[in-house]
Amino acid sequence: MKKLFILTGIVTLILMISCNRTNETNAVMLDKGWKFKTGDDPAWATPAFDDASWATIDPKKIWEDQGYNGYNGFAWYRYKTLIPNSLKDQTSISDSLKILLGKIDDCDQVFLNGELIGVNGRTIYSQSPSSQDFTREQGKWYLERRYILAANDPRIHWDQENLIAVRSYDQGGAGGMFSKPFEISMTGLSDRLKIDLTSSPFAISGDSLVTKNFSIVNLTGKEQLQGELVVEALHCNNGIRFFSACSRVDLAPHLKIDKSVSFSEDIASPAMFKVTFTESNTRKSITAKAEIPYILTPKPPLTPRINSAKVFGVRPWSPFLFKVAATGQPPLKYKAADLPEGLTLNPENGLITGSLKKKGEYIVKLTVENQQGYADRDLKIIVGDIISLTPPMGWNSWNCWGLSVSDKKVRQSANAMKSTGLIDHGWTYINIDDGWEDTHDKNGNILTNAKFPNMPALCSYVHSLGLKIGIYSSPGPKTCGGYEGSYGFEAKDAMNYASWGIDYLKYDWCSYGNIAPNPTPEQLKKPYKEMKHALRKANRDIHYSLCQYGMGDVWSWGAEVDGNSWRTTGDIEDTWESLSTIGFSQGKCSPWSAPGRWNDPDMLTVGWVGWGPALHYTRLTPSEQYTHISLWSLLAAPLLIGCDLEQLDAFTLNLLTNDEVLAINQDPMGKQAMQIRTSDDYEIWARDLEDGSKAIGLFNKTEKPLNVPVEMTDVQLEGKWLLRDVWTQCDLGKVRGHFEMKVLPHGVRLVILRQNQ
Ligand code: GAL
Repeated sequence: MKKLFILTGIVTLILMISCNRTNETNAVMLDKGWKFKTGDDPAWATPAFDDASWATIDPKKIWEDQGYNGYNGFAWYRYKTLIPNSLKDQTSISDSLKILLGKIDDCDQVFLNGELIGVNGRTIYSQSPSSQDFTREQGKWYLERRYILAANDPRIHWDQENLIAVRSYDQGGAGGMFSKPFEISMTGLSDRLKIDLTSSPFAISGDSLVTKNFSIVNLTGKEQLQGELVVEALHCNNGIRFFSACSRVDLAPHLKIDKSVSFSEDIASPAMFKVTFTESNTRKSITAKAEIPYILTPKPPLTPRINSAKVFGVRPWSPFLFKVAATGQPPLKYKAADLPEGLTLNPENGLITGSLKKKGEYIVKLTVENQQGYADRDLKIIVGDIISLTPPMGWNSWNCWGLSVSDKKVRQSANAMKSTGLIDHGWTYINIDDGWEDTHDKNGNILTNAKFPNMPALCSYVHSLGLKIGIYSSPGPKTCGGYEGSYGFEAKDAMNYASWGIDYLKYDWCSYGNIAPNPTPEQLKKPYKEMKHALRKANRDIHYSLCQYGMGDVWSWGAEVDGNSWRTTGDIEDTWESLSTIGFSQGKCSPWSAPGRWNDPDMLTVGWVGWGPALHYTRLTPSEQYTHISLWSLLAAPLLIGCDLEQLDAFTLNLLTNDEVLAINQDPMGKQAMQIRTSDDYEIWARDLEDGSKAIGLFNKTEKPLNVPVEMTDVQLEGKWLLRDVWTQCDLGKVRGHFEMKVLPHGVRLVILRQNQ
């Protein structure tokens, strides 16, 4: 295979220097045997306190997963350990001690031998926080807990037992210590030099050329750092190195060197990119790794293919808007036989519009034609009470633009939804999250702020592209972002939304917490019922999305307040911890999911995200992103893309346009997957599909490739079944009784088992 290598920067390239190196491993592990107690007492920071009666806890998992479900408030962790002098022996510099405590949700204070050594996150109040001090933004759960002390700091008791005490506070959702690493070591090369692979994503051009920009930074203020840099790429399947180059690096204090590497590889096959720096004097080395994006979804054929949902719900008299999503070589011609009276189809763009007056069911025969051939499919239209009979698919502004969303950004996103072809795979909604509101005027009409000069015009623009548009509000006086909410104006707001042409409302609890601080089950429902009545009076089908982070097991009553979907968790982030904690905890809500009543584990964190205005490329690896989309599809979750659609790279677009994966999400039966097996290492989730087949996800939770076994009796399947790999859209043969599949670290194999006829 031809390999191309380009390396820029102030370095001289020396190919294939052999680099001997040792990694820094001298550390005291703190990952087992912590003591734990809920509550709050300053005496718990002191070494003298006797914690023998305390529970033990695994610091790598949030306390909800260890018997403290639903606990919010203060809790303490304690750990006793020897800090040996020998730690200093093998390090390249030994003047500072580093204590790593994973991550802590939401915030913490850390004490060493009774003395405070660090505070992370918001101020921790000595008494329970009142509602005024309570703001969600202050949690610092996503920060690595890293405490550095000079080696001669008197708070460290060298060669003696030391007590680490962590006072943590959780205001809701997940709580306490989690993630990793948990260890004590001397600071080393990794604290002095950083290899940054995250500043920009891999670029893929054509079918095989991969380019990666990265940087190396000297973090020290005084030292010159010299060493060798090895860049490698290895196949994940067999570990074979298919690209390698070595160069010398000389870094002045604080200097950052940017580099660029290009090589060719088969982009369908998973590979790992590795950069290792070995310091010349000490021969110590550090390595940074990143999975190279691999493209699994085959290109759609030139012949037409219909991709939109097979069932569509509408209420009598409501404006009807349905886009027949189809791929194939343009121009496509759309036709519909047996369209009920009141509806018309535009043959050029596949938009069905009009309205239907009576409740009932209709089967429409859709056909899409081009020069290469044609495709047909039945569309079932159900005129009734319930809308959103398949999970909504679209885009929401929050995970990328945060409060900086504007009319311009929404239009650009709608344009991109169309120009990238996402619309042809069924992606429909363009949803404005928080940040559009002004005040209510004297007549009670909600006004838009300067970023949204004309909401009706924006709505009709989005509709003109064949897309739908959504908006956001809170039942409280203020939204989570501090903008005007709907409290006291529910009926008027709903009428305004409908008159503008809004198709989706996300209704976010936020400051309603001040009105009902410790809500009873009835109080939790009250504001949602109020908006339900208001929306039902508007002559428009508005998808009603409840957002209250799962309080009071919303999945068990969301349908009662007419929710079409309800958030089951707090906010997602673009990390494996967040994705896996949220995704793999959705089994409890499965039984409540049904057409028009969807559990919502929050929006997608792929592509360029950032909660605005500055964006970064998702921190999820490619395998984790395959897990994200596979799991959300199995969960029948709303699919709301959270990234900048104008910057969709080849990998992300490919990830979002696999019609077989999306068809699992949109399956008309609407049955959410159940967790079939779970262990520390893997998860198996399975979902029944309308045609009698089963969709199964095999997920690897470890950081090594893993063979995941499936017992077919676990999914109630007897006899021979045809196994199809959904991502690659390839049949893998027949299976009976048991099969196993190799799954990449944090990755997935998504398969369908079909009856063998
Ligand atoms: C949060 C919500 C986010 C986003 C944000 C807006 O409560 O979970 O998804 O809508 O508010 O301020």
